[in-house]
Amino acid sequence: VATVEIDLSSIEAGQRVTIQWRGTPVFITHRTETLIEQARSDDTNPALIDPEPDNARTQRPAWLVVIRVCTHLGCIPLGQQDTDPRGPYGGWFCSCHGSIYDSAGRVRKGPAPRNLDVPPYAFLDELTIRIG
Ligand code: FES
Repeated sequence: VATVEIDLSSIEAGQRVTIQWRGTPVFITHRTETLIEQARSDDTNPALIDPEPDNARTQRPAWLVVIRVCTHLGCIPLGQQDTDPRGPYGGWFCSCHGSIYDSAGRVRKGPAPRNLDVPPYAFLDELTIRIG
């Protein structure tokens, strides 16, 4: 399937879900105001490894959509479950070699060299996205 439509209406603020797109798992995060503010407050942080402002990574601030592949060697970052370690930036932690991602999916500690990839997607209406 080249494209997939996702109904976001049942995903509560703070909740993270994983969906499949062309055989690739995609993380969808309904970000809380706290997570959005946390990400935006670091937009100009000189320590960003792969600098990118939060609003370049999201089409609507409440929704972050990223591909579930650590950009180091492709492990699955932890953080989808509330009991997972997420690191100090409200994002994901890759237990393979210790990379940490923030609440915008930006890499904050290597060895991962790049932010988590954002797939092509579009909002079809307020609470429906199409990926691909
Ligand atoms: Fe994620 Fe190496 S694969 S840190």
